Amino acid sequence: MCGIVGYIGRQDAAPVVLEGLTRLEHRGYDSAGVAVLGGRGLRVAKQAGRVRELTDVLPKRFAGTTAIGHTRWATHGPATDANAHPHVDETGRVAVVHNGIIDNSAALRAQLTDAGVTLASDTDTEVVAHLVARSEADTLEGKVRDALRVVVGTYGLAVLHADFPDRIVVARNGSPLVVGVGDKEMYVASDLAALVRHTTTVAMLDDGEMATVTASGFSTMRHTDLSSTGKTATQVDIDAAAYEAGDHESYMRKEILEQPTTAQAVLRGRLDERFGTAHLGGLEMDARDLRAVRRVKILGCGSAYYVGQMGAGLIEELARIPADAEAASEFRYRDPVIEPDTLYVAVSQSGETIDTLLAVQEVRRKGGRCVGLVNVVGSAIARECDGGIYLHAGPEVAVASTKALTNMFLGFALLALQLGRVRDLSIADGKRLVAGLERLPGQIEEILAGEADLVEVAKELAEARSLFFIGRVRGFPVAREGAQKFKEISYRHAEAYPTSELKHGPLALIDPEVPTVALVPRDELTERNIGALHEIDARHGPLVVITHDEVDLGAIGARRIDVPRNEPELDPILLTIPLQLLAYHAAQHLGHDIDKPRNLAKSVTVE
Ligand code: AGP
Repeated sequence: MCGIVGYIGRQDAAPVVLEGLTRLEHRGYDSAGVAVLGGRGLRVAKQAGRVRELTDVLPKRFAGTTAIGHTRWATHGPATDANAHPHVDETGRVAVVHNGIIDNSAALRAQLTDAGVTLASDTDTEVVAHLVARSEADTLEGKVRDALRVVVGTYGLAVLHADFPDRIVVARNGSPLVVGVGDKEMYVASDLAALVRHTTTVAMLDDGEMATVTASGFSTMRHTDLSSTGKTATQVDIDAAAYEAGDHESYMRKEILEQPTTAQAVLRGRLDERFGTAHLGGLEMDARDLRAVRRVKILGCGSAYYVGQMGAGLIEELARIPADAEAASEFRYRDPVIEPDTLYVAVSQSGETIDTLLAVQEVRRKGGRCVGLVNVVGSAIARECDGGIYLHAGPEVAVASTKALTNMFLGFALLALQLGRVRDLSIADGKRLVAGLERLPGQIEEILAGEADLVEVAKELAEARSLFFIGRVRGFPVAREGAQKFKEISYRHAEAYPTSELKHGPLALIDPEVPTVALVPRDELTERNIGALHEIDARHGPLVVITHDEVDLGAIGARRIDVPRNEPELDPILLTIPLQLLAYHAAQHLGHDIDKPRNLAKSVTVE
């Protein structure tokens, strides 16, 4: 989604900002722009298209040591040059870049028009530039404060003003903003990924906070009254190389292949072989708190929601507590009943998904306890929760989430184990599951080693316009996640169904042109699953079956992909790995931009 980068220091600022913007490209965008403050005052270059295309057409005299830049993902108005950020006021002295949505922009646009202002774009953001310019405050901070007083919505924004050339002012409400500290130079960005090559000394703004950033330092204050919040920078433990694709042809492929290692990272130090349980200190819940939980409600969006469904299944099976998952994007709008003895669990890779964040806030506003399963340390959701489990998957850049989702599943397995062991889960079962979790990273490696066998299958699936993914009980969320991954990057219509529901409708669509990817693990439902395969086979529907080698498919004509068996409760994540590879190779066969699928953004920070 939209990205912000700013620089103030001694270097020529535009190249620094443009390079930073390329680091945010995978978040998804359709236009780019940069504003520079230099000897010639404030200058702006912006257009629809890629950062590289903007760099190629940058005006010759575009020098200056202060700049802000933006990648836009269209919300208000199409992807045009005029709608690209930065937006400027009528005098050309103020430039603004903005992530988020200004909810009352229509009213503010009307007020500005009535006051004689000619608006140059369709965007919500442009109003901020005019409001800053029209404020009578005598400092830039005062002008920004005045503008924000009338703005309702979410924002991470950065402002340049030709009358205050020694500073960038930034503000946050709901969209992330980070200030990076260099040597007599400073950076701002909406994501650490844009900064880590320059500095790992950073300060993350909180909602309601503003910062003045000059070449020599920064100071933070509240939006409302400009009183100091006294924030200082801290060192983040991030390796800049983790953000690079290295020799891999795409980030997605790199992230798929990293899973044996990243899966170990989420388990490290959390398994207790002796007592067959898990230790999750970050939850900040003792055995008494855990025993008091009567219900678990998991909240996430997209694939995080589907893994949440896998997690709910694990919790019900191991802890025998009623558990379910709900799309956070729906939950927050339906005035949910928040129960004191329900444990709410927010699950998110980025920790910035606005729907999940607002769902957490809804839970907490009504007195509920919400813990997080989050990958990005210090992100908004992680900070908003009462405690949680960090996923330790490392930076995930590709829009299609893989390694973070695997670690979400493992995070849920740890939580289910701990909840189970303070209840009726026996020590023998606890030890069985601990041993199963310890085997998992090696089994993921085994599946990845068989990648070559999947390529032809993926190519065949890529040729279909429409596909089904089916699974039953533990396998249904796996099917949902498989269909999601496939449609995200191959742009094929892929629909997930519970296997048991096939005959209640979708069987009508089965024919030789519509393949089905079926999840058939060796478990208590194998025979019933095979029955459904017969029904598909009888209608000449092509079948790809992800299964275990002990499963006998008899005379069914199917392409089979065998995965190693673990414990039945943990098998879903092993069944998921081939689905990542199928999606990846189908998209590659179709020649799509795998890391930057059309219309999608890595983290969805607008409602
Ligand atoms: C996953 O492949 C998707 N890109 C998407 O559904 C994602 O899982 C969802 O937007 C939630 O993101 P989060 O984990 O960062 O909250």
